[in-house]
Amino acid sequence: MLDYKNPNLIIETAEVEPGSIAWRSPSNLAIIKYWGKYGSQLPKNPSLSLTLSSSFTETLLEYSPKQSGDRNISLEFSFHQEPNEPFREKVLKFLESITDIFPFLRQLDLKISTGNSFPHSAGIASSASAMSALALCLCSLEEELFNTLEDDEAFDQKSSFVARLGSGSACRSIFPTAALWGQTGEVEGSSDLYAISMADEVHDIFKDFHDDILIASTAAKRVSSRAGHGLMDNHPFAEARYTDAKRKMHFLLEAMKKGDLEAFGKMAENEALTLHSLMMSSNPSYILLKPNTLEMIERVRRYREESKHPVYFSLDAGPNLHVLYPGEIIHEVRLFVEEELMPLCEEEKYLQDWVGDGPVQV
Ligand code: DP6
Repeated sequence: MLDYKNPNLIIETAEVEPGSIAWRSPSNLAIIKYWGKYGSQLPKNPSLSLTLSSSFTETLLEYSPKQSGDRNISLEFSFHQEPNEPFREKVLKFLESITDIFPFLRQLDLKISTGNSFPHSAGIASSASAMSALALCLCSLEEELFNTLEDDEAFDQKSSFVARLGSGSACRSIFPTAALWGQTGEVEGSSDLYAISMADEVHDIFKDFHDDILIASTAAKRVSSRAGHGLMDNHPFAEARYTDAKRKMHFLLEAMKKGDLEAFGKMAENEALTLHSLMMSSNPSYILLKPNTLEMIERVRRYREESKHPVYFSLDAGPNLHVLYPGEIIHEVRLFVEEELMPLCEEEKYLQDWVGDGPVQV
């Protein structure tokens, strides 16, 4: 199995000049969700996401040949210009886990400065944008030191593979518009090891597509996604869930190819509620939705019925509602969002996001 382990990626420290690399990488919203994993960060079912735009992480990686001769990873770390020990430890652990892929990391003094475009307290998960930005920096560093990832396809594939090891959903953030992660007979070239681009497989309507994120609560989650995935291992509905997700993939791909928003939206809402039903029926059970999340769902459905506008919702592993709609009806929908949904949000907060072109090197 492809593992990218490469003991030859060792530098001649005397020949390496200090340098830096920076990437901006967006978050993504899964329409068919990854929930349940096996082995080392491999998904129990394929997932498909829209790549977002305004919710991103920017990461600067500075490096210089190591001064000391030890083999530990030398890492200075800051988040929004401040040292942050819990985040540093998380990143350090991740870097240590991938030294077989990037052995040269032990030979450098590393400094990582990172930050998100969205407020840390917004209740928005940042692991997809953060881990994809870091993976892209590491692959650029390899390319700079060894010239090994010359073509874009090889670069994207390795970045996605490495991002996956940091956080599963991060592997989908590498690609513009839409990405698929997980082996499925529906799509040639799909893999559990990395995501692939679906930009050319979806209708143009998804290239001008909005996701307004309504902040129902910014309180820290009681159960992390990592723990939630774990609870799928003994879940009574697990097998039925994986079968259902695989079946839905066929219909979602068809709907997205045709630009059939009604079928797309039905799938998006069904997946969001399925994810939360799995949490509620886990042992132990937990609920991340808030009363206002449910009220907003009711209002979206009522608005859709009355206006006939193709406006749908999705949810991540949290209480915040993602309101999805095509750009051509933005004026009408924003009126609805601001009049009827915003007042239900914590401090009336919502974030405007949209489908974007994927990461950029900055
Ligand atoms: C509900 O990717 O955050 O957002 O691999 O443990 O880091 P780890 O989990 P993570 O799980 C994401 C779960 C989800 C659905 C999705 O994005 O597909």
